[in-house]
Amino acid sequence: MYLFLFGENKILSNINFEIKKGETFALIGESGGGKSSVLNLIIRFFDKNSGEILINNIDIEQISLASLREHISFVSQRVYLFNDSVAKNVAYGDEVDSNRVIEALKNADAFSFVEDMGGINAEILQFGNNLSGGQRQRISIARALYKNSSILILDEATSALDNSSERKILENIKKYTENKIVITVAHRLSTISKANKIAIFAKGKIIAIGNHEELLTNSNEYKILNQKH
Ligand SMILES: Nc1ncnc2c1ncn2[C@@H]1O[C@H](COP(=O)(O)OP(=O)(O)OP(=O)(O)O)[C@@H](O)[C@H]1O
Ligand SMILES: [Mg+2]
Repeated sequence: MYLFLFGENKILSNINFEIKKGETFALIGESGGGKSSVLNLIIRFFDKNSGEILINNIDIEQISLASLREHISFVSQRVYLFNDSVAKNVAYGDEVDSNRVIEALKNADAFSFVEDMGGINAEILQFGNNLSGGQRQRISIARALYKNSSILILDEATSALDNSSERKILENIKKYTENKIVITVAHRLSTISKANKIAIFAKGKIIAIGNHEELLTNSNEYKILNQKH
């Protein structure tokens, strides 16, 4: 079964997984392996050409795009920031509630540099050109926390951050994600080893799936990844 095709290239096949409320699901594996493609299918940036993607047993193609995306907070690998205030970038089309913006920024470990910029009304330039890569990522995480949907998708959301900032954010995110679904793509094993399920991707396929202990026992690829860290 092929789930997804870009033109003539078969990108994904044999992708099968289920995530329950309250669980964290991690996607790992080689660059170009298909991790972001799976996320793009879930949020319907692209439509699959076969198979099924269900949320609460409802096929996502039966739901309006607006309603599907309302249920998903997505921190993509490509952060999109626009020329307006920090607050507007965090609320992203939603009404600005200053207290909630500040709370989201704090939980995304972004509040102190935003204060240095002059506060939540300070200006962000188009594409976030006046921010560092890690600062852009943290604004993007704050945006997802502000939205606070029942599904949180993080695609390398903390890749530009140092370990201590990442650890802080992941700890803070727990407050938001109890009883929700978290889908995360990450390289650092510290981030993924605690996930309820980990799927290893290679060449558009899931080559192993399980929790940390199961994969350490059953998957040579996972053992190798662990030794590298
Ligand atoms: N818009 C697109 N059009 C055509 N091919 C694409 C497109 N996006 C991704 N691909 C191809 O799909 C394959 C899977 O890419 P994907 O972005 O899903 O990988 P990934 O596992 O997220 O990699 P990375 O760790 O580098 O982010 C790659 O071979 C890539 O070249
Ligand atoms: Mg990717």
